[in-house]
Amino acid sequence: MGPALDQPGKVALRRLAPIGRTPLAVVPTPLLPAPALAARLRPDLRISIKADAWTGFGLGGNKVRKLEYELDPARLRSATELVTAGGPHSNHCRVTAAAAAHLGLRCTLVINGEPEDPRRGNAGLHRLLGARIVTVADREARALAMAEESARIEAEGGRALAVPLGASTPRGALGYVHATVEMRTQLGGDRRPVWIFTAASSGGTIAGLILGCAILGWQVRLVGVSPDEPAATVRAAATEVALAAAGRLAPQDGDGPGLVDAVGRIAAATHFTDDFVGEGYGIPTRAANDAIALFGSRAGVILDPVYTAKAAAAMTAWIREGIVPRGAHVIFLHTGGHPALFR
Ligand SMILES: Cc1ncc(COP(=O)(O)O)c(C=O)c1O
Repeated sequence: MGPALDQPGKVALRRLAPIGRTPLAVVPTPLLPAPALAARLRPDLRISIKADAWTGFGLGGNKVRKLEYELDPARLRSATELVTAGGPHSNHCRVTAAAAAHLGLRCTLVINGEPEDPRRGNAGLHRLLGARIVTVADREARALAMAEESARIEAEGGRALAVPLGASTPRGALGYVHATVEMRTQLGGDRRPVWIFTAASSGGTIAGLILGCAILGWQVRLVGVSPDEPAATVRAAATEVALAAAGRLAPQDGDGPGLVDAVGRIAAATHFTDDFVGEGYGIPTRAANDAIALFGSRAGVILDPVYTAKAAAAMTAWIREGIVPRGAHVIFLHTGGHPALFR
């Protein structure tokens, strides 16, 4: 059964349809039931895993859906090179480099810091995909270096298309409106209260979920689990992106309750936590390692150690502590990141 939409929702989906995108993702991704995981954690729950690790292109993950919209064919028309930034093992940089190669474009990646071994994990894949790597000292230096690289490309007669960090822009977030519609449709007539857990860092993924829920009028508890930034920072980034994206899709004629208002309400009700970061970004925690073992042995699902393991640690803790109510349907959005297993 598909979602029944109110008027602003219908208008928003109608407005979304013609927005340009470059198709890259293998979708819909499956919503995998995880009954053995539920039996181990709390048998009153239904647990499912939305397998966005399997979006396919460039080894998949959440960046693929976001890049589809960032790489609107109209914006690509005169581009000769994509420029983006991230850490030495950035999943976003991997998928951006793969998209550039696929589209016959060059790619420059501004990377803060050197990998321990440039042949392994995403660092190896950045190079295998033909990207030019520019190394900067820290995260703060990335924006300026991206601007300098774009200027260099233009000075040499090319046209740079800069893809902001994580493709977490109002445009990129639209990819996660589609994921929300998929999940709502995949649930069919299930009337349990739904909780969705996801890793959230630059905020575009959960921004798309917030907007998707507003469009569908779908009452879901969203939980964004930070692997690095303070929860307040992730909340602010996600809310800003979701509101801006809603502004593009909202009906302009005052017809029915406003989509932007609904997004504001859902963003405010969304939980953001940084309780599972541990000592820092990419540094394993006991709870994350336990979650990797649990999802592997009870669901056949492989988590990555940087993002999804920490999100899964939050999910298992909130289930065990009874924060997730009895009888709920818990969806774990698996956002990918597998190359980090091989770094
Ligand atoms: C595997 C993985 N999961 C989750 C995230 C977080 O997504 P977002 O930046 O949209 O919040 C990222 C990117 O930072 C990622 O690479």
